[in-house]
Amino acid sequence: MNKIDVSGPRVYRLIYPHLVTLISCIDPATGKPNVITISWSTPLSAVPQLVGVSISPKRHSHNLIENSKEFVVNVPTMEILEKVAGCGAVSGRAVDKFEKFGLTPRKAKTIKTPAIEECIAHLECKLVDKVKTGDHTLFVGEVLAAYVNEGIFNDGLYDLEKVREIYQIGGDNYCNLDPTVKRTR
Ligand SMILES: Cc1cc2nc3c(=O)[nH]c(=O)nc-3n(C[C@H](O)[C@H](O)[C@H](O)COP(=O)(O)O)c2cc1C
Repeated sequence: MNKIDVSGPRVYRLIYPHLVTLISCIDPATGKPNVITISWSTPLSAVPQLVGVSISPKRHSHNLIENSKEFVVNVPTMEILEKVAGCGAVSGRAVDKFEKFGLTPRKAKTIKTPAIEECIAHLECKLVDKVKTGDHTLFVGEVLAAYVNEGIFNDGLYDLEKVREIYQIGGDNYCNLDPTVKRTR
């Protein structure tokens, strides 16, 4: 097979599509919440439960997470794709994204930052580390509470017949998973 070289700022898209999440955060001075859409989130450790979110210092959310030392990873689905794309196109410096996109703050169990009601799953995190990674910062969160809508997550697996998580292919292009499950054992 002939292989074509790929270079430049889009090389990372060779490991796409990536799951899109909505990160909610809060201004500790005013209590005002914000939402940022990200594709660069990842599990980092199972014991303790650590997750990473990679956010550019240019984002308003970067300052909020640095100052409040907490955030919530929320999992959106295709039903709210327009809201998700919207939260990734405007800054919380200029607008209240909960209000503009009709998202509902849901009181969190362990931290001040609200979760997002319209999402299907939520991981409440306290900031335990941050690593400068080139033009982004990897914020490492320890999961203090995690919960999911009833009836869609069984034995640690999402029921893909019921939920259509959002995957970014690149830019404004999105897809969801084929729900066919293939078992290897
Ligand atoms: C699908 C999608 C994925 C994105 N992924 C990231 C990401 O992983 N990290 C990041 O810093 N910005 C990412 N962005 C850009 C931010 O969401 C965008 O700059 C946002 O307006 C920042 O909002 P804020 O200034 O309120 O924090 C993404 C945008 C979209 C639409």
